[in-house]
Amino acid sequence: MFTPEMLESVKKVEATRAARMQTEPRRMTAEEKDTLLKAFHPDYRADGFAEIKIGPNKGEKAPLELAHLLNSNSRLLGEDIDLTKVDYDVDVLVIGGGGAGASAAIEADNAGANVMIVTKLRIGDANTMMAEGGIQAADKPNDSPVQHYLDAFGGGHFAARPELLRRLVMEAPDAIKWLNELGVMFDKDEDGNMVTTHGGGTSRKRMHAAKDYSGAEIMRTLRDEVINRGIPVVDFTSAVELIKDDRGQVAGAVLLNMETDEYMVARAKTVIIATGGAGRLHYQNFPTSNHYGATADGLVMGYRAGAPLLYQDTIQYHPTGVAFPSQIFGALVTEKVRSLGAMLVNVDGEAFMHPLETRDVSAASIIRECSERGKGVETPLGSGVWLDTPMIELIGGEGTIEKRIPAMLRMYLNYGIDMRKVPILIYPTLHYQNGGLEIGGEGFTKTIPNLLVAGEAVGGIHGRNRLMGNSLLDIIVFGRNAGKAAAAKAKEIELGAMNLDHIGAYADELEAAGVATGDVSPLLLPKYARKGR
Ligand code: FUM
Repeated sequence: MFTPEMLESVKKVEATRAARMQTEPRRMTAEEKDTLLKAFHPDYRADGFAEIKIGPNKGEKAPLELAHLLNSNSRLLGEDIDLTKVDYDVDVLVIGGGGAGASAAIEADNAGANVMIVTKLRIGDANTMMAEGGIQAADKPNDSPVQHYLDAFGGGHFAARPELLRRLVMEAPDAIKWLNELGVMFDKDEDGNMVTTHGGGTSRKRMHAAKDYSGAEIMRTLRDEVINRGIPVVDFTSAVELIKDDRGQVAGAVLLNMETDEYMVARAKTVIIATGGAGRLHYQNFPTSNHYGATADGLVMGYRAGAPLLYQDTIQYHPTGVAFPSQIFGALVTEKVRSLGAMLVNVDGEAFMHPLETRDVSAASIIRECSERGKGVETPLGSGVWLDTPMIELIGGEGTIEKRIPAMLRMYLNYGIDMRKVPILIYPTLHYQNGGLEIGGEGFTKTIPNLLVAGEAVGGIHGRNRLMGNSLLDIIVFGRNAGKAAAAKAKEIELGAMNLDHIGAYADELEAAGVATGDVSPLLLPKYARKGR
């Protein structure tokens, strides 16, 4: 398992542990955070970004890989798609089979709409399934949605859209109740009260969890509900372009069967983009904690159809991705490990920061420790710092790790590392897109009247940094709302003549801007997918 150099460093971590347990590292000042972020957070690396050449956000910057996709042509340019041959005809089309998509579909179904989910992999193959630590909600007597708002607003650098963040925190307690009643097995004490913990940047313990597989447990429940209700799910089928009509509305999507390469047409009165994140674009060559299909497809389709983006230039690097062993490089090590007491420690056994600073600050601090300060531990794929996990057992008592974070324990035991006895090596991993398509409080895009967005594809809920547990929350709150709003809107929508004219117009604009990449988008699968597209 560990190299001799790592073992030498472990001795130093062990030697400082008792003293470190007596003194909590101090929090950084606002000024220190600001300086740190500007110097070490990847969002500030100019060479990681490029200009968006056309469309509503023309002239703004986006990560290189996303800008490239936005500056590319449609896969359908030059294809002859017969829009009169309609394969699926529904009220509400949900694109994406993760937590937001499933929540939306359930509520649209509740409202009596004829709803269908299309997903390029299987329902549940989504970042929701990968989420570990928990879901925030201010539902304890010592807490309030106002307190939750203040934490999230400050943590997001005061950039969250107030109407979105307000909805997030106000509807959080009901989201937990809804999930609990659907059957999510949240951690509870012997009296049946929810067990809650802190996350980075929280002033109250409001993280509700199902051990360290909270997302999988939530997704299991939502998927069962979708299946039990008989909501149609078209899987292994990717939406590749939105269809519009002659009234400026969306009218459905062109779908690609990922197995047969056949195109199909789905007509819909309202469309919800719930396509999730972009980790598999590997911005700035970071590894990722994201699922295989996280390639920003919804952002590209929505943008090409005319919906603006917001904060597309801000990305979340989770401070604690696996740095070693290489087989699980970049996999998520839940923030809950730090909530339970593990400290971040450098090669010399020194605690170099408070373990529960917000994520952007924590990631930047780890990057600084490994680069400028040269205090990282060398690994086969780079470097990392220690997360002193044996502290959890010392603080919470023997058995805490197995009880509270059993999946993490198992993941490391598979590689001969017992995190109860030795610390683990971590480094930031690409985790979340803070930005996405801009919506109003009801979930509708700003420019297309019957196009909605929910989940990670939305920009603006969290501002320029997201707190732990607010993403599992937003997929439920905004997913449910989008489903209700889409079902209601579908009742008043009359579709006009369907067309794909926006694809040609986009191509013309690209040409006029002198952009000729020759590539097409959305990407659908990562570049290293076995079946290249
Ligand atoms: O650290 C985690 O468990 C991740 C949670 C989140 O992104 O909200």
